[in-house]
Amino acid sequence: MGKFNAKNLKHIAVLTSGGDAPGMNAAIRAVVRVGIFNKLKVSAVLHGFQGLIQKEYLPLELSSVANTIQRGGTIIKTGRCKDFYSPSGRSKAAKNFKAAGFDGLVAIGGDGTFTGAHFLYEEHGIPIVGVPGTIDNDVFGTDRTIGFDTAVNTAMEALDKVRDTAASHDRLFLVEVMGRNSGHIALEVGLSAGAEEVFIPEHKVSIKHVCEVIARGVRRGKKSSILICAEGDTPGRSYDIAKEIKRVGGYDAKVCILGHIQRGGSPTAYDRNLASRLGAAAVNFLQKGQCDIMAGEMNLQIVAVSLKDAFSKKKSIREDWINLEKTLSI
Ligand code: F6P
Repeated sequence: MGKFNAKNLKHIAVLTSGGDAPGMNAAIRAVVRVGIFNKLKVSAVLHGFQGLIQKEYLPLELSSVANTIQRGGTIIKTGRCKDFYSPSGRSKAAKNFKAAGFDGLVAIGGDGTFTGAHFLYEEHGIPIVGVPGTIDNDVFGTDRTIGFDTAVNTAMEALDKVRDTAASHDRLFLVEVMGRNSGHIALEVGLSAGAEEVFIPEHKVSIKHVCEVIARGVRRGKKSSILICAEGDTPGRSYDIAKEIKRVGGYDAKVCILGHIQRGGSPTAYDRNLASRLGAAAVNFLQKGQCDIMAGEMNLQIVAVSLKDAFSKKKSIREDWINLEKTLSI
């Protein structure tokens, strides 16, 4: 966690970085509106950290964020910036940041964003507050990240549709959801869509066990089943799992990869409200001279979490929810 003299804070910048997430626009809107309400100038850096290296800025007014709260994606663009992995890239970004007259930065994104932000503070003293925006919900120090709730709802609706066709044909389906190296989306979609079994990186299940679960269902008259798999570190690994299920249990599973549809769409009320609270909190932290932190929310209370903890500590998965999911699919 860092401190800086906020007396001279006049002009803040906001950027979105990494994968877009529904609700990012609501967070940008909150940063802009709370900033201007508090007499600050607010500008966007476009395309994430790449925009700092290429000097892509856009001054924002109150009206710049009108009619954006309901829109998915990010109106100020995003990107994954390779240059930011090197000290020379960060030093160029810091030089440009200072030359543009910015005094503080709100960086909306996930763990990759916070890693870059932390080094920008540590190496160049740039006051930064992070806002957790990623569908994966894999950020330590906040119960939920912006976009997660919408992605879970999108995937759940897709699962409901898959279930219609699975039931009509008496089929077994294996649906792959996003989540990079974390199973938060898979677990919550599994619970909300009533999946038979969930494959997540944090809690491994054997193919033999899953085949026994399918067989148990068949014995009690189940004609169709749905399994969910988090993409894990190998996108498309659902095909490997399906092959193993065939080999071990002899079951044919249809594979369905939901992919990037989980990233789009109008944010849920939950995500809009969370984004509004966290965007506002980020500006408030900067105005109090607090930086190198992420604005998170735990038990509905705003918290300041060090950026380092946010990107380096592992957010645990709810074992009790995993057990509940298993019990409910008996
Ligand atoms: O971090 C969000 C996320 O959608 C992950 O779930 C996924 O692994 C990754 O981004 C995909 O990234 P990209 O859109 O750059 O391929």
